Formats: sequence, C-alpha cells, structure tokens
Amino acid sequence: MPLSSSSTSSTKSIRRAASELERSDSITSPRFLGRRQSLIEDARKEREREAAAAAAEAAEASEQIVFEEDDGKALLNIFFTLRTSKTPALSRTLKVFETFEAKIHHLETRPCRKLKDSLGGLEYFVRCEVHLSDVNTLISSIKRNAEDVKTTKEVKFHWFPKRIADLDRCHHLVTKFDPDLDQDHPGFTDPVYRQRRKMIGDIAFRYRQGQLIPRVEYTEEEIGTWREVYSTLRDLYTTHACSEYLEAFRLLERHCGYSPDNIPQLEEVSRFLKERTGFQLRPVAGLLSARDFLASLAFRVFQCTQYIRHASSPMHSPEPDCVHELLGHVPMLADRTFAQFSQNLGLASLGASDEDIEKLSTLYWFTVEYGLCKQNGEVRAYGAGLLSSYGELVHSLSDEPETREFEPEAAAVQPYQDQNYQPVYFISESFSDAKEKFRAYVAGIKRPFSVRFDPYTSSIEVLDNPLKIQGGLDGLKDELKVLTDALSVLS
Ligand SMILES: [Fe+2]
Repeated sequence: MPLSSSSTSSTKSIRRAASELERSDSITSPRFLGRRQSLIEDARKEREREAAAAAAEAAEASEQIVFEEDDGKALLNIFFTLRTSKTPALSRTLKVFETFEAKIHHLETRPCRKLKDSLGGLEYFVRCEVHLSDVNTLISSIKRNAEDVKTTKEVKFHWFPKRIADLDRCHHLVTKFDPDLDQDHPGFTDPVYRQRRKMIGDIAFRYRQGQLIPRVEYTEEEIGTWREVYSTLRDLYTTHACSEYLEAFRLLERHCGYSPDNIPQLEEVSRFLKERTGFQLRPVAGLLSARDFLASLAFRVFQCTQYIRHASSPMHSPEPDCVHELLGHVPMLADRTFAQFSQNLGLASLGASDEDIEKLSTLYWFTVEYGLCKQNGEVRAYGAGLLSSYGELVHSLSDEPETREFEPEAAAVQPYQDQNYQPVYFISESFSDAKEKFRAYVAGIKRPFSVRFDPYTSSIEVLDNPLKIQGGLDGLKDELKVLTDALSVLS
C-alpha cells in the first residue's frame, strides 16, 4: 500500500523498490515498470494488523499489566503495601509468587508513607516474570493479602532483541516482491534466476549470528550486471556524492575488492566496516520487515542481501539486492557519525509502537535512503537509494525537486513517492546536525524506559530502574576520567 497518493503519469518513469538505478535516458522510457517496496509500507501494514489485534485483545482484557512479553512470559512491575502488624501477610504474599512460579528480578521496600498514623508498614516494589496466562490471577491473589496494589500502566510492548544472537529471530521477510510471487519482477518468468536467487537466499536462512558469511561465487553474467551499474555510477560520484561516501569508496576499492569486474564478498566488507565503525553485515534472504530491520541497526548490524538483480534489468530491481547494498549503503556505514545516526534510529525503534515504527521508517527513508547534505557550499547525496540510482541521483541534485531543511518532525510524516522520484528531499546541514536533531526527536517518543547499547557485550540494556541507570553512569564516569586524564596530559 503506497504511503503517497501521488498518481503515476505514463510519461514518467516508474521506479524501483529499494534499489532502482536508472540512466537519465530511461526517464521517459523505463525499462521496467515496477513498484517500490519500502520499510514504511511494511510498517504501515504491520500497524494495521496490530491495531486490529489490539482492539480484540482490549475487549477481553480485564487487568492487563503486561510490561513486556516474550515467549509467553510477562514482566510485571508490582507495587503493594503491607502493614507490619500483619506479619503473616508477607509470607502469604511471597507464597503467591511461589505458587505462580514467578521469577523475581528485583525487590525493594521502603517505609510506608501513607500509614504513618498507625502501626507503620512497608511499601514493596517487585519486578517479576510470570506466565502471561497467570498475570490476572496473581494480581488478584496479592490483593487479598496486601493493600494499595498497583502495577505499571497498562502497556504492551513488542518483543525486541536484547542480545546480538537474538537477531537470528529477526528474520521476518516481506515476500510479495520476490521473483516467485511478484509477476512484475524481471526474474518472474526465469526459473534459472529464481533457483539461483533461492540458493543464495538459503545462505541467509542457514546463517547464525557470529558465523562467517559464506562466499558466493558469482557467475560471469552476474558480474556483467554489476559491471554495468558500477561503471555507470562511478564517474557520477565525484560530483554528486558526499565526501564521506567518496572517502569510503576509495578505501573499499583499495581494500575490499570493489571494482567493475568483481562483486565484493559480504564477509570481507563486513570485516572492513567492523574495523571502521563497528558495523557488521549479516546476510538476509530478501526484504525484511521494518521492525526487524531497524532492530538490527541498534546492534550495528546491517542486514544485507547477497543475490543480484536480474540480468535483463541491470538498472532496476523491485527488491533490495547486493548492488543497492554494496554501492548504496556500505560506504556510508563506514563513516562514524553516520554509523551512530543509523544505530540511533535502530535504538529508537526497540519496543516502539507501530505508529512510531512507521514514523521511524519514514525518517529512515528520507535520510538513510534519500538524504542530501550540505558540504562546502554545495548539496551532495548521502542516501543509498540515490547513490545506487543514476536517474534519481541526477534528479535529486537538479533544480526540479523541492528541497527542505531536515527537520525530523516533518520528515517523519512526509508522504513519500513510491512510483516515481521523490518530489521532496530533505537537506541536512551535516551528519552531526542530523544526529542532534534526531536525538531531540527521539526524546519525544513515548516509551517508559530507555535503552542503551553495551558495546562490550553487544547487548541492549533496558534502563527501566534507577539501579541500571546508576550502573550506566558509573561506566560513564570511568570513560570521562580517561578523557579528562588524556586532556591533562596534552595540556
Ligand atoms: Fe536500502
């Protein structure tokens, strides 16, 4: 379902999914009339499905206190008060947790403020994990023994990966644009191509986080497709790509086998990125759901297709392919500030509502895919959708489209064009400026917790209680000490 209501003129070129690349001479005579599938579209569909499910659930939920749900378990924050005079109440209350086999993660007490008139008492805060089906009964049982029983506000969050190995579970594909199902796909009528794509896709299905990415020995025909795109775009980069892209591209040609005659191997590229910015690649079998794709970015993992577009359509693919990933995305992921911006997008998506996922996907669209930036008085491209698309790269820096200063609030709700070039592009002052603006935007996203990435364990820490925040601050103090010592050595 397109986000934009823009109509398509038959005189205009109809353009690609995540990886179109068109020559300027194809603008009035497209080689392929296709659709463009995007994270945004996927996010919207997911939101619609979830809304229907939530409505049905709300109708039957009496006291839903689910904070987080994973594998049939609910994580609850429960507050209650016990009078000291009612000593058996404590043992009876604890017995309730035992009966329901609740796994207690955290327990705190403090003097009761409401009962100071009489016999005193204690307020309890318990954070525990219990089976979802037992939640309401457990709460009812506690109410029989304790007073002022409260739980965290009724919120239900989507599961999200906490450890990098959890990315093995982030594999939900949007398959309707793959060549087996999409009649408009250039490979739809080519069983040999479909078999080859499936074989390469199977590498991704078998892959587990931490493994080496298997090599693909590309055929002469596949290398020919790559060569045509590579050669067409390379000269244009000098005048159209941002300096960060150009610098990374130079290094990739020197160290990672980027050349017209070679399709780089993901494992080598991944190692290069890891050394530059900590980003790494993992193979994916096709277009991933918005939530899974964004979640991977939180771990500095970029899910990357390994197959290549159909040879009959070198300038267009209705789905992401390795041309789009390797020429469009990879060079920018080698820049530290851009890498941080990408990770911040991912972190903001964890546990976010479907509405926010849709907005974040749209932000991703107008930055990571179609972003422009100012450099030395000129406007240059940094978006992967531009840098892997001859036609749109030229178009985006022409006088034709409207350009606006990047403001996340506006970009997050800007209708996007999925049948033609974007009518509007957002220009960032710099990546640092975009990063800061995005940080302010994220602060407005409603989540009763924050998350932070722990680079030592490659895991996500949910900052939902003061102790965890204190732990984070302690680590920060150590780092600040190192930096202030370094400054004093220099001064
Ligand atoms: Fe992309």
